[in-house]
Amino acid sequence: MGILEGKRLLVTGVLTDASIAFSVAKLAQEEGATIVLTGFGRLSLVERIAKRLPEPPPVIELDVQNTEHLDSLADRVGEHLDGLDGVVHSIGFAPQSCLGGNFLNTPWEDVATALHVSTYSFKSLAVACLPLMKEGGAIVGLDFDATKAWPVYDWMGVAKAGLESCARYLARDLGKHGVRVNLVAAGPLRTMAAKSIPGFKEFEDSWPEKAPLGWDLSDTVPAAKACLALMSDWFPATTGEIVHVDGGVHAIGA
Ligand SMILES: NC(=O)c1ccc[n+]([C@@H]2O[C@H](COP(=O)([O-])OP(=O)(O)OC[C@H]3O[C@@H](n4cnc5c(N)ncnc54)[C@H](O)[C@@H]3O)[C@@H](O)[C@H]2O)c1
Repeated sequence: MGILEGKRLLVTGVLTDASIAFSVAKLAQEEGATIVLTGFGRLSLVERIAKRLPEPPPVIELDVQNTEHLDSLADRVGEHLDGLDGVVHSIGFAPQSCLGGNFLNTPWEDVATALHVSTYSFKSLAVACLPLMKEGGAIVGLDFDATKAWPVYDWMGVAKAGLESCARYLARDLGKHGVRVNLVAAGPLRTMAAKSIPGFKEFEDSWPEKAPLGWDLSDTVPAAKACLALMSDWFPATTGEIVHVDGGVHAIGA
């Protein structure tokens, strides 16, 4: 029996088969979950990727900046699942001016977009899914360690610091609904989101060297496994937590 046997999950953020969310979806199905995916932008593309999963799941549209999409999300998910036990937020975006060493010159409009899509959406998604989580459940988001200022990550780093705080406030307010809220802070992975960061190579070169356990930049499975574990019944008293899946880099000085 899988660790997610019988669980009903909503997984956001599948774009390519390199997406962290793709590994989450694949492993979740292998571990017994029934899933629905959300897609952003060209849904036909996400549907094509979804066909590579063990059981191609339904794909519904979600732009986290679109209030109508959010307001109708529970009804649209409800057409496929009679409730939700888990939700994965694997969404991030920042305009180019927010990344790559332009920190002092980024205009507010671009920062606002980064915060809307990458930070505020964690709250929006949680609230949109809550009507389906009558028996409680777990919400997991994807983080990049925001306790330090990194090279080139810039305003996305600020957005992730906000995400970490947002997760704690959600944990505070959703605990009474039996909903746990946690983050997985992954090390750098070669996904579309990462490739759009100018200077991402700086992480690529140093991370595997610094990590006590080593680090494979193209393996999304360790981060996905942590998401699954947090949505399973094996973390029943854990909320507001950040689990680092980074080969151990966060624990090492210099
Ligand atoms: N790749 C890394 O190095 C790394 C490390 C730590 C954390 N993360 C985080 O993991 C998450 C997933 O990213 P990924 O690396 O798998 O890259 P990815 O490009 O495969 O996924 C990013 C997803 O965000 C979605 N998205 C962007 N704007 C959206 C919007 N307005 N509404 C809904 N969805 C939208 C995209 O469609 C895409 O599916 C992000 O939060 C990212 O910050 C990534």
